[in-house]
Amino acid sequence: MRITELRKKIGSMDLYIRDLVIEKGRIHGLTGPNGCGKTTLLKIIMGITEPDSGTIDLEGLRPTDITMTSQRPYLMHASVYDNIVYPLKLRGARINREEIEELMERAGLLPLKQQYAGSLSSGERQKLSFLRAVVFHPSMVLIDETFSNLDPESEALFKEIIIDRRKTDRSTWLIVSHQWDRMNSIFEETHFMEKGRIVK
Ligand SMILES: Nc1ncnc2c1ncn2[C@@H]1O[C@H](COP(=O)(O)OP(=O)(O)OP(=O)(O)O)[C@@H](O)[C@H]1O
Ligand SMILES: [Mg+2]
Repeated sequence: MRITELRKKIGSMDLYIRDLVIEKGRIHGLTGPNGCGKTTLLKIIMGITEPDSGTIDLEGLRPTDITMTSQRPYLMHASVYDNIVYPLKLRGARINREEIEELMERAGLLPLKQQYAGSLSSGERQKLSFLRAVVFHPSMVLIDETFSNLDPESEALFKEIIIDRRKTDRSTWLIVSHQWDRMNSIFEETHFMEKGRIVK
């Protein structure tokens, strides 16, 4: 994916990305101070926020090949399981129950399968939101600070899943994180933002 001359002004923020390449099949880390525009950039890539100008070349990806986990996960008023399979239903894709239950088991969510998603703890919500993102084997995953409430074991598991998927699916990952020292080990490319600009 290549982002060129992208501009967006909202409130006091002036986002300007002159040229940013998110190379396919690699794990990218993105960090920067609060309010520098990371979430806004991700939302623009997802098509949730309209830029004022500029181009995003998806290089053959369709919008439905990309997914994003948000800082405050939005969950459907339904069970944990129904939330996880929703992206598959949306795309009319086959539901591989065994694979899904194995993922849920690994993440410790299987015992909560029929629980109402709204009653989950904050770490459990992040797990659900991560599984819901990866369940349809997307080509590109944008992760917005989704690992902040995970226990160390779950964090290690999710890193493992990311590395696995990047190998098997050749998927591209753009991971926003403030926990740079903990996440850095899996990043193959790093990008730093300040005041709406990529600075490194
Ligand atoms: N709809 C809006 N109206 C006004 N200001 C907005 C709007 N959306 C975002 N902003 C402002 O734009 C700036 C960038 O927000 P953004 O959420 O992209 O930051 P961020 O880098 O993700 O920060 P954080 O690390 O806290 O998540 C912030 O100052 C925010 O207040
Ligand atoms: Mg943010």
